[in-house]
Amino acid sequence: MHLLITGATGTLGRPLCAELLRRGARLTVLSRQPAERVRARCGAAVDVWADLAAWTPEVAIDAVINLAGEPIADRRWSAARKAALRASRIALTEQLLQRLTAARHRPAVLLSGSAVGLYGDGGDRVFDEGAPQADDFAARLCADWEAAARQAEALGVRVVLLRTGLVLSREGGLLARMKLPFSLGLGARLGDGRQWMSWIHADDWQALALRLLDDAQARGAYNLTAPEPVTNAGFTAGLAAALHRPAVFAAPAWGLKLALGEMAPLLLGGQRVRPERALAAGFTFRHPTLDGALRDLLG
Ligand SMILES: NC(=O)c1ccc[n+]([C@@H]2O[C@H](COP(=O)([O-])OP(=O)(O)OC[C@H]3O[C@@H](n4cnc5c(N)ncnc54)[C@H](OP(=O)(O)O)[C@@H]3O)[C@@H](O)[C@H]2O)c1
Repeated sequence: MHLLITGATGTLGRPLCAELLRRGARLTVLSRQPAERVRARCGAAVDVWADLAAWTPEVAIDAVINLAGEPIADRRWSAARKAALRASRIALTEQLLQRLTAARHRPAVLLSGSAVGLYGDGGDRVFDEGAPQADDFAARLCADWEAAARQAEALGVRVVLLRTGLVLSREGGLLARMKLPFSLGLGARLGDGRQWMSWIHADDWQALALRLLDDAQARGAYNLTAPEPVTNAGFTAGLAAALHRPAVFAAPAWGLKLALGEMAPLLLGGQRVRPERALAAGFTFRHPTLDGALRDLLG
């Protein structure tokens, strides 16, 4: 099986490449980074494309996994930043669609990224995959990214949309950023701490993504979140306990709004998401509870 992966050098992509190579797949990685660095991150056996022009109609790709995107929470959302966040996802997915359309051998399946930010800030409401999309910047970014990928359905490609929650990983991302302040006893609840955090252990994310890749019946949007989301206060207490440190501080909402501007709802709002379709398909989470996931990740 020949897979094309975008965003393969990232937190989710690297372990995914390792597992796919272990399964005997042939991998081609689309990356802006030098080939040697990509191979160091994704595996010595991967082919590297610097440009999608390398996907000529003769090249046979069996499946595409599309994870590329500028990190959403790295910098304040200026107009230029917003444009980069959209172009790195939506424009890139549209370019993939052009190549897919021209291909003589069409891939059977496209797994494409999205996020639970699509549902917006819902208070205590529970969102399954049937919930409507919200209308803030992050929600529109996800919805337009999904819409670009969904165009492949008209070409007979099975499209699966990975509505991902906050991934807890040893490789980086949220947990790596929070570990140091929490280890120093400086962990803090954000605002009133009542906003929901729909998290998932990276191993469960990968197992579910691979299941959706393999399952010819799987199509459309799936929430990739653990079955037991927590509030920010619960997450703060759980992480502090896992690190055997106190977390007595609270970052005031007004300060976060001042510092983060339009990005503040990412931290002060949240979604209480249920992975309804994964559960209905019989997927078993290895790490369904936050305490168990943190114990596993922080050892
Ligand atoms: N991790 C999470 O908690 C989470 C939650 C929800 C959604 N997601 C989404 O899932 C995807 C993968 O997540 P991740 O945590 O693995 O992301 P990540 O570690 O930030 O990696 C994303 C990858 O996207 C590529 N990329 C970045 N900017 C780009 C640009 N301007 N143009 C083209 N490619 C670009 C990079 O690949 P190269 O440098 O090799 O080009 C990078 O390795 C992301 O799109 C993310 O938004 C992640």
